[in-house]
Amino acid sequence: METISIIHAPEHVDERVRIGVWLSNKRSSGKIAFLQLRDGTAFFQGVLRKTDVTEEKFAEAKELRQESSLYVTGTIHEDARSKFGYEIEIDDFELVGESEDYPITPKEHGIDFLLDHRHLWLRSSRPHALMRIRNEVIRATYQFFNDNDFIKLDAPLLTGSAAEGTTELFETDYFGHDAYLSQTGQLYEEAGAMAFGRVFSFGPSFRAEKSKTRRHLTEFWMIEPEMAWMHQEESLELQEQYIAFLVQSVIDNCARELETLGRDVETLKKYTKLPYPRISYDDAITLLKENDFDVDWGVDFGSPEETFLANHFDQPVFVLNYPKAIKAFYMKRHPTRDDVVICADLLAPEGYGEIIGGSERDTDYDYLYKQIVESGQDPKEYDWYFDLRKYGSVPHSGFGLGLERFLTWITLQDHLRETIPFPRMLNRIYP
Ligand code: 4AD
Ligand code: MG
Repeated sequence: METISIIHAPEHVDERVRIGVWLSNKRSSGKIAFLQLRDGTAFFQGVLRKTDVTEEKFAEAKELRQESSLYVTGTIHEDARSKFGYEIEIDDFELVGESEDYPITPKEHGIDFLLDHRHLWLRSSRPHALMRIRNEVIRATYQFFNDNDFIKLDAPLLTGSAAEGTTELFETDYFGHDAYLSQTGQLYEEAGAMAFGRVFSFGPSFRAEKSKTRRHLTEFWMIEPEMAWMHQEESLELQEQYIAFLVQSVIDNCARELETLGRDVETLKKYTKLPYPRISYDDAITLLKENDFDVDWGVDFGSPEETFLANHFDQPVFVLNYPKAIKAFYMKRHPTRDDVVICADLLAPEGYGEIIGGSERDTDYDYLYKQIVESGQDPKEYDWYFDLRKYGSVPHSGFGLGLERFLTWITLQDHLRETIPFPRMLNRIYP
């Protein structure tokens, strides 16, 4: 007899198999017990009839508690009424680990309680679906970039510079001078692009955000591609192809998870149609004003403005060329204007806002040196970065996708916190 995973049950119809499972719920009457089982790969039902087992076994089954672990043995059948489509008719089981007073019961719990029990909550069906979609997006990311001649080049997480501004830094005093947890791998990816042409990093980023919003985590995961010999236009094309590829991969490989989360697949399909609309920052300001927003040229968009813009197009939309004053020091100067830079944010529809920030990078040593001095930072700390402009500087562009921002949108969550296994936020470092 084979030991299998639930996910492989369809390949074993009418066979007798053994599965290691946890009991997520149960219902029983005098003659039959319905055990809701999970093994990490999927959820399905076990049916135990009094007539199929000894009296003691049936009594033992009725006493089983939520989240006990067991080996169940039985025959796989199709079950058209269930979501999974298959069930196991159990003829024997063996208790492996008891579980007493499991805190997360089938009743409703508040979000703080669930987050305090995140280490257990991950076993429930919604977190399970979210983490499997997260895994699919990670898998598809590696596929997309490898298929497009990128290599993954890991950026350090301890850094000596503040590439995205100095307000959100996590400091450490280990090195005897200023050092921080990384806000972005970008500057290192720029070095990588000059060595390997096309690179991407994919790792945690840290922002000591002091605000509590549904779009900010203190620790989040970012995918940061960087491409040598590439201008912004071509980078935007790559960005939209990447997003469409991720959406299609989730549609193709996570149908069950999307259903669990109640995400409508037809809506998602819209987002695989390219190109995405583009609007300049200038035109976005005009459009917002026409729609009664109180915004002046020069401000950064908040969540109401971003929501309006993406909903207006009913598609992800690139907002191009923001004011220089509100963007990072490395962004490329505009050829004819000195008030904007060559950059774009990609805003997701349905109220989700910015998911990508990217730009072409300035290539000029003197300009970047001046930018660092004007930002009040010590240019000595950027010596290595300036070297990239001294030795064969070339046009290059890149961008950063926030994994949790993307997932929150794709899975229609109202907060980022459920799209990462163990969220870190203002006031949350446990568990
Ligand atoms: O716009 P950001 O700050 O851009 C950068 O860090 C660039 N260095 C990227 C690059 O060009 N290589 O961040 C990029 C993305 C945002 O669009 C957002 O999706 C995500 O990272 N992000 C956050 N996600 C969760 N919590 C936070 N606190 C985030 N801050 C940024
Ligand atoms: Mg940004």
